[in-house]
Amino acid sequence: MLMLHTANNRTDITNRQDIERLVNQFYDAVKADATIGYFFTEAVAVNWEKHLPIMYAFWENVLFHTGGYSGNPMERHKQLHHQSAMEPAHFEQWLHLFTQTVDRLFAGNNAETIKQRATSIATVMQLKILHHQ
Ligand code: HEM
Repeated sequence: MLMLHTANNRTDITNRQDIERLVNQFYDAVKADATIGYFFTEAVAVNWEKHLPIMYAFWENVLFHTGGYSGNPMERHKQLHHQSAMEPAHFEQWLHLFTQTVDRLFAGNNAETIKQRATSIATVMQLKILHHQ
């Protein structure tokens, strides 16, 4: 019997609308999270109307090379680390929530790619922040 890997009719991430759905649901989970929520609600009082479009552009560029993001995430998180220390457990939880959100909503090559990219960026970010590189 043919086993489908796309249970619950999940489809792949194909456009900006899918990215927005992923990012919105990811941050809903982040804000409610006991381990890392406070970075977004207390350490930084995030202006979501500004931050969400930045994150749509960031992930859209990661997946579709749209060129719409021009920030410096490494610097931004180094600053954040000085305000409120970031530890390996925080990165682990961030990645867990990201992966879980992708897997709940999507399945396919782009879904796999975005999880891999998140993992590698988080790994580099963590090295730079925790080892002051
Ligand atoms: C422990 C893990 C992390 C925490 C607590 C965290 C937290 C934050 C916070 C508080 C901001 C600032 C929002 C604002 O300016 O209002 C931010 C910005 C951002 N984060 Fe993270 N972050 C984490 C990991 C990551 C990872 C792994 C990525 C990428 C794969 C990422 C991508 C970004 C980007 C692109 C921005 C926007 C920077 C800009 O303004 O251009 N973050 N993050």
